[in-house]
Parts: sequence; C-alpha cells; structure tokens
Amino acid sequence: MSKEKLEKKLPVVFKDKVAEGWKNSVQGWYVENATPGLYMLDIEHIPDTIVEEHNKEESEENVASRYRKDLCPHKCSFCFNEQNEVYAQEKAEVDGSTKTNKMMTLEDTMSIIDQAIEIAEEEGHDFECVKFLGPGELTINTQLFEIIEAYAERGIDIGIFTKGAVFGSDELAQKHHGMTAKELVDKIASYSNVSLIFSFQSFDDKKQDEIVTTTDEEGIKGVQNYSAIRETAIENLFASEFYQNGITERVCMINAPIMPENIDESFEIYKFFIERGTQVVMTPSMVSGKGCGQVEKQKLIEKEWHDKLVELYAKIYTYNVEMGIQTDEQIRTEGIASYVGAAPCNQASVGLYIRANGLVQMCPGRFDEETVYANVQDVPLKEIWEKSPNRQRGIDDPQNLVNNKCPAKDGRAFPTDFYERVMERYEELKQQ
Ligand SMILES: C[S@@+](CC[C@H](N)C(=O)[O-])C[C@H]1O[C@@H](n2cnc3c(N)ncnc32)[C@H](O)[C@@H]1O
Ligand code: SF4
Repeated sequence: MSKEKLEKKLPVVFKDKVAEGWKNSVQGWYVENATPGLYMLDIEHIPDTIVEEHNKEESEENVASRYRKDLCPHKCSFCFNEQNEVYAQEKAEVDGSTKTNKMMTLEDTMSIIDQAIEIAEEEGHDFECVKFLGPGELTINTQLFEIIEAYAERGIDIGIFTKGAVFGSDELAQKHHGMTAKELVDKIASYSNVSLIFSFQSFDDKKQDEIVTTTDEEGIKGVQNYSAIRETAIENLFASEFYQNGITERVCMINAPIMPENIDESFEIYKFFIERGTQVVMTPSMVSGKGCGQVEKQKLIEKEWHDKLVELYAKIYTYNVEMGIQTDEQIRTEGIASYVGAAPCNQASVGLYIRANGLVQMCPGRFDEETVYANVQDVPLKEIWEKSPNRQRGIDDPQNLVNNKCPAKDGRAFPTDFYERVMERYEELKQQ
C-alpha cells in the first residue's frame, strides 16, 4: 500500500487545524472576485513536430494515432480527453466532404492566448491563468519549458494536470528532458507561474496500476508499476520549492474521476493530503470522451452511487469546518462545489476550453452540440466569447461567478438535486 510508505516519508503538518488563512485552492484553479469576463482558458498543447506531421495532407500518422505512442504513456480506460473526433486527421464537413483537421502549433496557440489577453484588457481586468488538461502529458512534451516561459512572459499562471510519471522515473525524465526526475521537478518548481494538479486515485498499488492501464488481448497497455514511480514523484515534489515548510499552494492532488472502484478511499485520500499541507479536489466522471462510458456504467447502480457521492461530499464539508479550511458561513455563501473540498468551479462562467484543433468548448466536462461552440481557427476568439453561454452565465447571475456548480455533470453524473441533498446531509452531520 502506498499509504504506509508515504506516511513514513511525508510528515503531518496540519494535525487538528490547518494554518490560519490556508485555502484549499491551488494556484490557477479559481478566479476570485470575478466580474463578467474572460479570465482563464483550459488549453491544449501538442509538440510542434507532431502538429507538422499531422497537418501534412498525405501523412499516415496523426495526433489520434500517436496519442498512445508519443503523447501519453498511460492508458486510463475512462479518459475524457482521448477523443478521435478531435484528434483524427480528417474532419467531416456539413456537405459530407472531409477536410484536414488542422492542429495548432505553439505559435498558433499563443496567438489565441494573446487574443484572450486583449479581450480581458477591453473588459477591464487581467487574463489570469490557463490549465493544461491534455492531450496526454504536457510533462513529456519536449517544448515544456518553452511553453511555461511563453506563459511566464505574459504574466499568466499555468496549472498542469499530470500523472507525474516523469517526476518519479529517471529513465523517463532522461528520455524526454535529458535530466534526472529530481532535477526536472526542481526546474519546474523554480517557475513561480506553474502549479501541478497531480492525479491520485488510490492508495492501493494494484488498483492504482489497473486504473492507469488497459488490458486487452495484446497485454497490458500503459506504464506499468506506476504506483512505485508515483511514490518517488510525490517525494520529489515534497522536497522541492513547490513546498515551503511542508505546505504548498502550488500542488494539488486530484482524485478524478471518483468511481465505484475508489470512492471508499476518497475521504482517506482527502484527509491524508490535507494533513500534509496539500490541497485536494475530487469529482466524479465527466460526460465526455470515454467518461461517457463511466457515467453509463454508474447508471446501473444509480441510487446507491448517488447516495455514496452525497455522503462523501457532506463528510468532507463537515471535515473542512472541523479543520478550519472553511467556515459554515462560507459554505452557505459559496455553495457546494462540484470539485468537492476545493474552491468551487467558475470555469464555465469566466473561461472556455480550447482544443488542439481549435474547437472551443464550454469546458472539458461535456462534448455535444450544446457545448461545442465554434472553431477558433475559423472565428475570432472575441466573437466566440461574446456569443458564448459561458459569458452569458456570468452576466445572468453573479452567483455563477462564485460557483457555477457543474453545467456539464449536473443532471448527468450528478443527480439534479445533488447540491441540496449534500447541504441537507451536511446539516445533519453537523448536529452529530
Ligand atoms: C485527461 S487528464 C490529462 C492530463 C494528465 N494526463 C493526467 O492524467 O493528469 C486531466 C485530468 O482529468 C482526469 N480525468 C480523466 N478522465 C476523466 C473523467 N472521465 N472524468 C473526470 N476526470 C477525468 C485525469 O485523471 C486527470 O486528473
Ligand atoms: S487521463 Fe491523462 S494519463 Fe490517463 S490516458 Fe488520459 S491523458 Fe493519459
């Protein structure tokens, strides 16, 4: 079990209470005091060499075919991001013809970021941050530091979602960046605009290894013995500049998706990392990519599943108050967050999700006619933003700028009365 091993290595810093003012919200996660406007983007980056090859008309290789070979060393069965409709070589037109599904180079993507900065300027506020959510692992992209610097030059924070294998394996770190895993962690930590949203789904090594691999007739696909690598990665992170006196505001553990396989551990994971000065966010499956399959599976045990989710969320809010992470009043004003424990989500009101092929979506949580808006390679970002339901959400109701709940998962991965049920159960637990 990783828990016993990590317990020995990582000291508890918050035993009964967190430090005064410590927030469970990693840098770049949430826009505070937002007014209606564009403050953040979820963003994708693919190495320019792969983009060039993909964009050649006669190319045999494309981002979809190279996803497993070059973009992601893992193979999670639930991955919302691995979507052929976004990464295939060709895309269908309305008249039935096909054309090249052009991917964006780093220069193309940064020109979209510059458009976002201009929009924010016109709106009278800063453009604050981006989050990398795929495809695959930004940490193995050989342009990683060029990308981090491009954001740093513009004064923008970047949150990188990662499984972090390259932070715990010298072999992988040498292969992709020509340095040891520890040197790589230290170098990334030295950029103050970077935060990591580090995946953590189970303390049980066997279960965790199964979660990030897929087994078929050809064998196991994805990095094996990942849990052991993850342990070293976490140790390297805790020993780096990301942490000051055992506490961080730049690393967060993410238990996503919460699934029937790991929900019984979710509270334990939450408590373990909070006690060690590290933020944690958790949420059930998105309704996009292979996440749709997850949500369908959960429908078979819907009542029991929803009851368990409500119980977990309510228990975490009770714990947050006990630990001094949140006050009871704050929970009432902010409302229940879709990513439990953390600051709520306002991404679907103050941001957009830009895919590597230019598609602009509401957020990563859904991919359908209602939530895929346009392509930024065809239409200026300003026009897309101004017509978007995301911007309208912030204008229609200022509470959405604080907590937009989850327009992707509400009524799908979450029952329609989810937030009310969590609040009721939290009230009950408080009395006990
Ligand atoms: C698609 S991954 C990309 C970045 C990186 N490869 C990683 O796994 O962290 C971004 C985050 O989404 C989570 N995730 C993947 N599929 C999901 C799903 N169906 N529902 C909720 N979260 C999901 C991952 O565990 C990870 O925390
Ligand atoms: S969730 Fe992340 S690590 Fe897993 S397959 Fe998707 S991109 Fe790769």
